[in-house]
Amino acid sequence: MSISDTDDALLFVQRDLLFAALSAMRTLALPALRAELQALQADLDDSAHPICAGQQHPAALPLSRDILRADLEQIAAALTLERARYYLERLIRGITAARSNGDNDINLNRWKEYGDIHTDSLWMIERRDSSGVHTADYWGNFVPQIPNQMLRRYTRPGDWVIDPFAGSGTTLIEAQRLGRNALGIELQPRMVARIQAAVATEPNPHHTQCVAVQGNSATIDVRALLGDLQVREAQLAVLHPPYFDIIRFSDDADDLSNAPSVDAFLALMGQVVDNLTPALARGRYLVLVIGDKYMRGDWIPLGFLTMNEVQQRGFRLKSIVVKNFEQTVGKRQQKELWRYRALAGGFFVFKHEYLFCFSETLREFRSQNSEVQWNHCVYCVGFELH
Ligand SMILES: C[S@@+](CC[C@H](N)C(=O)[O-])C[C@H]1O[C@@H](n2cnc3c(N)ncnc32)[C@H](O)[C@@H]1O
Repeated sequence: MSISDTDDALLFVQRDLLFAALSAMRTLALPALRAELQALQADLDDSAHPICAGQQHPAALPLSRDILRADLEQIAAALTLERARYYLERLIRGITAARSNGDNDINLNRWKEYGDIHTDSLWMIERRDSSGVHTADYWGNFVPQIPNQMLRRYTRPGDWVIDPFAGSGTTLIEAQRLGRNALGIELQPRMVARIQAAVATEPNPHHTQCVAVQGNSATIDVRALLGDLQVREAQLAVLHPPYFDIIRFSDDADDLSNAPSVDAFLALMGQVVDNLTPALARGRYLVLVIGDKYMRGDWIPLGFLTMNEVQQRGFRLKSIVVKNFEQTVGKRQQKELWRYRALAGGFFVFKHEYLFCFSETLREFRSQNSEVQWNHCVYCVGFELH
């Protein structure tokens, strides 16, 4: 569940009243503390009580009903007063102070509330989000949950994301919903027009800019494009290139799906990354979404080969996520045939793709210093788990 959601799982409390109630418990002994916690829970269960502010109240603080209940129960169940007060202080901090890692607006003091943000490296997404203007009808588009998760992890509201293979505009639509700005670059003019129509149709509650331009991402001047938008740099790049020639997206010679060989495809991917990197803010993230392919009976590890291209350019690999891959419209009809071929040919049918998450690093530092020193040059964010 996200704290931005507005469903029954959320309780809108009046922050000041909750703070006052919890603060008053600070000096109590255990029996009195437990009695007060019980009384507070009763107030929270009573929607007519002033502490239940309602969504429209200016001081309304959205909290997960279940997590708040569990937090109160944890305080009450503590065996020592010292422990109970520790949990109490933690809860007070959670409602009064925000702490983030600087890359996003996730409040680490309330980290339990972000249950819908994936932190594991295996993603099983059973159903694509088809809300609003999202559709699955562009063969080869990714599920909106991918940019959604990445934007929430690696950007803050108002930040900019670049998608150099914008396709049907999934990243831009998600960015607009989440209050992020987006620049999409796409080779096919018809797709650019489609993205522009989609972002114009989708509500823009945060008044952000989501701009699609036609161009070749290997050569277009990305910094100049951002400059035209009065923006110095972007905070995230999401790359979802063609998986070499699995789907031929157009007849354009610049289309990466028309690269004459795997090596040529990788070289072009390198060019796209080189071209994007100057527009990406220091230390921020680049996410590459790609799958593998079979070629004349060989499994071509396109994902890892492309990952290497990015790594060789000084990006630091932070994570490899494996995501389940539902059959595309084209392949679904051939499901039985693929199963037969797999059984006959000793191979396995693709059911996954990769999300490689990289952070931009101090490239000049790398070029001027030895590899040993470079290995020590990392961005470390201290986390304190409560
Ligand atoms: C896998 S699709 C991206 C789909 C997108 N993530 C979506 O959800 O709709 C790859 C896209 O890259 C575009 N493309 C291929 N070569 C390109 C290039 N050199 N510059 C810009 N776009 C390119 C293709 O036209 C295609 O729309």
